[in-house]
Amino acid sequence: MASASTNLLADEILARCDVLARFSEKPDRLTRTFLAAPMKQVHEVLGAWMRDAGLTVRLDAIGNLIGHYPAKHASAPVFLIGSHLDTVPDAGKYDGILGVLLGVATIQRLAGERLPFAVDVLAFSEEEGVRYRASYLGSSAVCGCFDRELLKRVDADGISMATALRDFGLDPDRIHTAAYPRERVLGYLEAHIEQGPVLEEKHLALGVVEAIVGQSRLWLEFEGKAGHAGTQPMELRRDALAAAAEFVVAVEHSAQHTAGLRATVGAISALPGAVNVVPGLARLSLDVRHADDAVRERAIETLLAEANRIGMKRGIAVRVERAEQLGSVSTDVRLTNILASAAQSVGQTPLRMVSGAGHDAAIMARLTPMTMLFVRSPGGISHHPDESVLRDDVAAALDGMVAFLHRLAGEMT
Ligand code: HGY
Ligand code: MN
Ligand code: MN
Repeated sequence: MASASTNLLADEILARCDVLARFSEKPDRLTRTFLAAPMKQVHEVLGAWMRDAGLTVRLDAIGNLIGHYPAKHASAPVFLIGSHLDTVPDAGKYDGILGVLLGVATIQRLAGERLPFAVDVLAFSEEEGVRYRASYLGSSAVCGCFDRELLKRVDADGISMATALRDFGLDPDRIHTAAYPRERVLGYLEAHIEQGPVLEEKHLALGVVEAIVGQSRLWLEFEGKAGHAGTQPMELRRDALAAAAEFVVAVEHSAQHTAGLRATVGAISALPGAVNVVPGLARLSLDVRHADDAVRERAIETLLAEANRIGMKRGIAVRVERAEQLGSVSTDVRLTNILASAAQSVGQTPLRMVSGAGHDAAIMARLTPMTMLFVRSPGGISHHPDESVLRDDVAAALDGMVAFLHRLAGEMT
């Protein structure tokens, strides 16, 4: 059972999630993408909370908001705690944001106690990949693996990433300065909602992550020929959207019949998009995930072969863009064991589990040993406004994170 002070902090975290959820690009839902105007408001409010907690605050060159909590000694290494501030369209209030606010509250709970390492709380600017169809931009820059080619990408309004950075007051030529020197970093911890049903099914509050599944993101174009909806006979049509629809059903069928495979067509569009015109062009996204990279790759090959079979049958050209690819990543055994024992020391029974969702932690593994703490998702709901968390679970996570830092410190003294 968490202490009264922890429960108060957990209440404060939930209230703060409500405050940040107001900063959105849309009046009636939470949508906050990379460097969108509402992110300025988030930085202003979150920055004040960070300073109140005893952190000094800076904005790095990719728009990550970073709070620094000094160590006992100036030359000490730094431990990183973080998650992301951007959201998917029509999002819930907790995906990413909860992990950042738990990091700030962990520092609040230290109440000035100095550890043998500094702690930086990282609020990443971009994880979801919505605005520029490129994920993990904030954590990639922190790891020194930001792909500068992405600066040329344009968003739906034709604004390049480089322009978006300048409009936000940042300098794309300084992105390399966001990278942490490897030798300075002790490790990384990300607290995050589970976003699935497993902890709830097991009646558990917390999980510790042992691996994050690999994921591929592709875009497919089906090109037929537009025609008149009233005069063109069915047998003469080369309907791009009908071909794409046949493929969407094939994607679902393939994933339903391949153990552990998740495959999703999340976005689809048809052109010219008029009621009375047979669609000449259809575009769709394809998100494929599996814990085993070889299975994921085979599934993609099977699906692309099916897309081509459908195209041949219908006289439709099929083009494929492989937009993103991330292999499955294991968390660091030592940090994960420390995290599990820290959770147990505060009365929890953390479930060891695999994450079906991607996280900045998968990128941070390129820089430093990393681990993740999952918080129960009631109903397993996420990437939806009904996403929620339980106050007592947030309190348990906070107690677990403070215990984790103390155990880590104990190993160093
Ligand atoms: O797609 C994901 O798994 C994460 O929400 N970016
Ligand atoms: Mn997400
Ligand atoms: Mn997330």
